[in-house]
Amino acid sequence: MKPETNPTDAMITCDRLTHRFHDGSVGICEVDLSVSEGELVIFAGANGSGKSTLLRHFNGLLLPTAGEVRIAGKPVREDLRWVRQFVAMVFQDPESQIVGETVWADAAFGPENLGFSGEKIRQRVQEALDAVGLTAKADQRPHTLSGGEKRRLAVAGILTTNPSVVMFDEPFSGLDYPGVCQVMEQIRRLRAQGRTLLVSTHELAPVLPLADRLVVLDAGRIVRNAAPVDSLQDLESLGVRTPCPACFGRDG
Ligand SMILES: Nc1ncnc2c1ncn2[C@@H]1O[C@H](COP(=O)(O)OP(=O)(O)O)[C@@H](O)[C@H]1O
Ligand SMILES: [Mg+2]
Repeated sequence: MKPETNPTDAMITCDRLTHRFHDGSVGICEVDLSVSEGELVIFAGANGSGKSTLLRHFNGLLLPTAGEVRIAGKPVREDLRWVRQFVAMVFQDPESQIVGETVWADAAFGPENLGFSGEKIRQRVQEALDAVGLTAKADQRPHTLSGGEKRRLAVAGILTTNPSVVMFDEPFSGLDYPGVCQVMEQIRRLRAQGRTLLVSTHELAPVLPLADRLVVLDAGRIVRNAAPVDSLQDLESLGVRTPCPACFGRDG
């Protein structure tokens, strides 16, 4: 899905974004940020630093208390339906994203919800399950999949609506090594397709070699925003484990 708006606009812009919760606590405080089309940006920071809260503004799951978020130049609050097709999110807990009785039904939920024709739904679901390697499990109950497979199913679900921006919230949490590799394979493939990728994680090592930028949050504010190689000093003081030196380079 391509933007209908001015091609010179950044893919994502936050202009003094602040989010205050109902209890009065501040989740995000005066964040300015710009992400270009095709960038892979990591969002790191200690638990509670505001990573999930920030990402949730990019597809309108949360709306700003003050400031503005724009996607391809368009304010998020103006058209939530459009934004949610354009910007998709793989949630931290893949169980919470399962809605279908079978793998196939689960992947079909998005295009069904958008009112696509039966043939288009069938085609999109088939392509998406092929892309994540779950075609052989199409009739299986999603809850019986492994952790890595559940995340792959979540990726299949979002692929069916062809989003330009894909957000992963803590994509490695709870996964064993093969699960991490499976998720990284999907991230590499989405990147090769030119999609804009936002990855919230405190596990930097798997994804750092692919990243264009590392943004670090602390108490709802951006405290680092630079190429990974320029953002890695004193990460421990911000609650982020410094990855091994071999991860600092880029492997494209
Ligand atoms: N619904 C809510 N109501 C009140 N405070 C919240 C709510 N959701 C998150 N918070 C608080 O906002 C801060 C940021 O949370 P979150 O974005 O989940 O952090 P992270 O994803 O970096 O761990 C935390 O202090 C958290 O307790
Ligand atoms: Mg979080």
